[in-house]
Parts: sequence; structure tokens; C-alpha cells
Amino acid sequence: MSGSSRRLLGLAGLGAALLLSGCWERPPVESVQRGFRGTGMVHVANPRLEAAKVAANEAPESSPRVAVEPGTPLARDVYKNVKVLGDLDVGNFTRLMAAMTQWVSPEQGCNYCHKEGNFEDESLYTKHVARRMLQMTQTVNSKWQTHVGATGVTCYTCHRGMPVPQRIWFKDAEGLEGGVFAGWRYGQNAPARTAGLSSLPKEPFSAYLLGNGEIRVGSSKALPSEHVASIQHTEWTYALMMHFADSLGVNCTFCHNAHNFATWDGSPPTRATAWHGIRMVRALNNEYLEPLGPTYPKAALGPAGDAPKAYCATCHKGLNKPLYGAAMARDYPELLAPIPVVQRAPAQTVVPVGTITKVFFVVGRSDLAGEAIETVDSTAKSLAANPAVKVAISGYADKTGNADKNLELAKNRAFAVRDALKKGGVGEERITMRKPEFVIGGAEADARRVEIIVVE
Ligand code: HEC
Ligand code: HEC
Ligand code: HEC
Ligand code: HEC
Repeated sequence: MSGSSRRLLGLAGLGAALLLSGCWERPPVESVQRGFRGTGMVHVANPRLEAAKVAANEAPESSPRVAVEPGTPLARDVYKNVKVLGDLDVGNFTRLMAAMTQWVSPEQGCNYCHKEGNFEDESLYTKHVARRMLQMTQTVNSKWQTHVGATGVTCYTCHRGMPVPQRIWFKDAEGLEGGVFAGWRYGQNAPARTAGLSSLPKEPFSAYLLGNGEIRVGSSKALPSEHVASIQHTEWTYALMMHFADSLGVNCTFCHNAHNFATWDGSPPTRATAWHGIRMVRALNNEYLEPLGPTYPKAALGPAGDAPKAYCATCHKGLNKPLYGAAMARDYPELLAPIPVVQRAPAQTVVPVGTITKVFFVVGRSDLAGEAIETVDSTAKSLAANPAVKVAISGYADKTGNADKNLELAKNRAFAVRDALKKGGVGEERITMRKPEFVIGGAEADARRVEIIVVE
């Protein structure tokens, strides 16, 4: 063999080795130390590939918020079926609809969720899903700040301009089959991206991101008393960890000090964020995504008939912070938390001068009881809503028995009504106290009263 052909063989051998090794990446390669020296906690990145990631993960620009003038109508004043966004002003409601279209269905437009020309129609399943998605987004941003911080998410974080987000998961229909002879497969030896193309089970998600399975490979007890760390759980745990690393574009040392994967002592704070993330994803799958199953058409369901679900990659898409941490949710306060219900003052009613409200009392007593409390209460509310109205209060007494005592009683009853009105927010300057009067004739019960008379 000549020297040159030997060299050629050598080159071919090197080429084959590179091809077969599978994990070869064209340089340059850069590394950033993330832990103490000697711990091997290093993040390895290739700036050439990073550049492509940057382009694919740019957040779209937000349109400016619509200024709200006092008196601007709310969505619920104008529209019919607004169960989530009813308390948002119409200007920003329309702005959000436009943004949702850009985030979820830019090609299909408004009609992806709406029947042409009839926005209040509720017949499309996409509208029902979108309504639940609005609530889910509000929940992520308000209840899971332990994970998403102040950065938060919008529909775009998951959807990226597509009605069906990339990187979602379904239950593995074949994993649980297998029978006695085929053995226990659980999707093993069927390289899937979900498990980083390893021969690990490809669907650890039902156990850990839908169920509350213990993500553990070592038992916390000396003897295997409770069988938490079975081989099955060990394989699922590693498969899940491959998914974490793949979803975030990091290696294991991003969250672990690899000398001991179990201990939290040497783990970076990112592991705690991930811990909350696991709980958040479980909640989203259980409370929002899985229950949407019956809403979807059959074709949208997985091979086991279940609804599409989220995992880490659904938001992260290869980055440790989705969209490089762009805080676009801040531009849409209505997505940060459920919109507070706008309390309106009751409409002003005209209270004509001369209107009389009667408050009745028990024999011999001057305290308010039963219906009298309600009467004074509702009068106080009506006066609070009509601040220009002034009233006079006068007590009545009958002449039977000791007249002086009766007058004293009438006076005390009038004071009780005044005090109750004041307590209900009516200023003293709006109340005039009149002298008690004797009732001439009439029923006895009618005599034991105080009148509130509108005088202005
Ligand atoms: C991704 C789905 C989706 C897209 C796309 C979408 N909408 Fe909506 N739209 C909804 C949902 C969900 C509601 C109900 C909100 C609620 O319950 O508070 C709604 C409600 C409405 C209503 C109120 C109708 C009523 O009377 O009840 C109007 C108007 C509206 N959208 C206009 C638009 C316009 C205009 C566009 C396009 C620029 C658009 N929407 C795009 C999901 C969508
Ligand atoms: C945490 C990630 C996530 C966020 C945030 C999110 N979605 Fe979704 N969305 C999903 C998943 C997962 C599905 C199921 C995919 C499928 O339908 O196959 C989905 C499905 C949908 C669908 C049904 C698509 C179809 O054709 O089946 C609509 C419409 C939708 N989302 C609208 C929205 C809107 C509007 C928002 C923001 C208010 C939003 N989503 C926020 C994850 C998300
Ligand atoms: C994004 C952060 C993150 C990454 C990346 C990550 N892990 Fe984990 N890992 C965790 C968290 C959080 C737990 C604990 C889960 C719990 O307690 O619910 C965990 C648990 C484990 C456990 C179980 C420890 C025990 O108590 O038995 C092992 C083993 C493990 N990880 C190995 C790995 C390996 C190997 C990799 C790389 C392929 C990796 N992890 C990548 C966050 C991460
Ligand atoms: C609903 C979207 C969403 C899902 C799903 C999600 N994350 Fe996150 N995650 C975020 C956001 C947003 C941030 C950025 C928070 C910030 O800027 O403080 C983040 C941050 C993190 C960080 C911290 C990164 C850093 O550099 O500090 C880790 C670790 C992490 N996520 C792990 C996970 C893991 C593991 C899962 C799956 C179990 C997961 N995430 C699922 C949205 C999500």
C-alpha cells in the first residue's frame, strides 16, 4: 500500500469515527465555568449554533397600549360572550385580540377562533380552547412566579405564530402494552428526542409531569421499605433529566453538582427554579390541558385518546430562559392576572323631596331591630349614592301613658336612626333633627316610628 493511500485510509477512518461518534459538532466551541473550579460544572456552547438560536427566539414587538379615557366602555358593555376579558376596556380588548392573532394564528387570522362575521358565536372549539388558554396564561403569571419570575409568559412563548405549539406530548399508547413475552418496554430502545435519543423510556411524562411520581433514583431509606426507587423510576428519572437538558439547551451541571446528583447542597439555584417548574407543569396539565380533551376534535388527540399536553420544551424551546428572558408579558397586564372586576357606583336615582321612609320600633325600646336595621341600611346606601340629598329625622310618640316618657323615647329612637345613618356613611351635615311629635289617632304600632324625610 502506498503512503498516500494509507493516508487516505487514515482520513477515511477519522471521518468514519467522527460520523459514528454522533456527538461531533463543528467548532468553535466555547465553555463557561458555572461552578467551583474542579467540579466540572461547565456550560459548553457553540457560538455558530447560538446565532441561529437567537434568530429563532426573538420576541415580536408589542403594539402600544390604548390610552383609557374615563367613561370608556368595558368589553362586557359592548360584547356578548366575554367571560374572561369582560372587565377589560374595549380598546385594549381589541388590541389583545390582534396580538393573539399574531401569536397563535397569523395565517388564519381572526377566523381561526371566530365564525366569519359573527364574533359572539361560540361554535368553534378553538374559541373555547383559547378562552381556557387565557385563564391558563393568567395563572402562570400570577401563581407561578416562583418559576416564571417577573418575566412571565404570553401565548407566543408556547405558540410562536402556530395554532399548535411545537414540542407538546401525549401519553405513550404502546408503552403500557407488551404482554408477558414481549416484556416490559415502556418505549425503550426506540430512540426519541424526548429522552435525548437515548435508549431510555421515551415517555416519563405521565408519571412525573401529570402524576406526582417521585423523581428519584436513590431511596431515602437504608432498606428498600417503600419501593420508590425502582428500576422503572430510575429509568424514568434519567429520561426526564434528558428532557430537561434538551429543553433548556444545557447539560446536567446547569442544575446539579455532578459529584452527587441527589444532594441539594451543591446544586445551583437553577435546580430550585426547575423544582417549581415541575410543579407548575403538573398543575397546567391537570387543571387546564388534560381537561380540554372533550373540547378538541378527535384528530387533535393523541394515540391513547388524550389531550395534547405541555412539558419544559413547550415554553423553553432549547433555551434556559424562553425567548432569552424577554419580558413581553409586561406589555399585556390583562395576561398577568385575572382582570379585577370593575365595581361601578349604582346609577344615580333622583330622590324627590318629600319622600318619607318609616322606621318602626318595638314597644318601650329605642334600639333598631330586625326589619328596621334593613330599612335604615338601604336608606343609608341610597343617600351615599345621592350625595346632594339632605334629610330630616323626626320621632313620633302617642299620648297614651306618660307623655314625657313617650317623648323621651321618640327622641332616643330618632337619635338611633341618625347614628345608624352616620355609621352608613351619611355626613352629619346632611341630617337635621326635628322635635318629636305626638301622633293623633291611628294604630298603636304606627305611632312607634321614626321618619326620614327628604328635605333637599
Ligand atoms: C386564538 C383565538 C382568537 C383569535 C385569533 C381571535 N379571537 Fe376574538 N375572541 C377569542 C375569545 C376566546 C373570545 C372570548 C373572550 C372572553 O370570553 O372573555 C373572543 C371574543 C371576541 C369578541 C367579543 C365577541 C362577543 O360579542 O362576545 C370580539 C369582538 C373579538 N373577539 C374580535 C376579534 C378580532 C377582531 C380578531 C382578529 C383581529 C380576533 N377576535 C381574533 C379568541 C380569539
Ligand atoms: C404553556 C404553553 C401555552 C401557552 C402559554 C398558551 N398555549 Fe395555547 N396551546 C398549548 C398547547 C399545549 C395546546 C394544544 C395543542 C393542540 O391543539 O394540539 C394549545 C392549543 C391552543 C389552541 C387550539 C389549537 C388547535 O387548533 O387545536 C388555541 C386556539 C390556543 N392554544 C390559543 C392560545 C392563546 C390565545 C393563548 C394565550 C392567551 C395560549 N394559547 C397560550 C400551549 C399553550
Ligand atoms: C433544569 C434543571 C435540571 C437539569 C438540567 C437536570 N436536572 Fe436532574 N434534577 C433536577 C431537579 C429539580 C431534581 C429533583 C426533582 C424532585 O425532587 O422533584 C432532579 C433530580 C435528579 C436525580 C434524582 C436524584 C435523587 O434524589 O434520586 C438524578 C439522578 C438527576 N436529577 C440526574 C440528572 C442528570 C444525569 C442530568 C443530565 C442529563 C440532569 N439531572 C439534568 C433538575 C435538573
Ligand atoms: C409556561 C412556560 C414554562 C414552562 C412550561 C417551563 N418553564 Fe422554565 N422558565 C419559564 C420562564 C418564563 C423562565 C424565565 C424566568 C425569569 O426570567 O426569571 C423560566 C426559567 C427557568 C429556569 C431558570 C433559568 C435561569 O437561567 O435562571 C429553569 C432552570 C427552568 N425554567 C426549568 C424548567 C423546567 C425543568 C421545566 C419543565 C419541568 C420548565 N422550566 C417549564 C417558563 C417556563
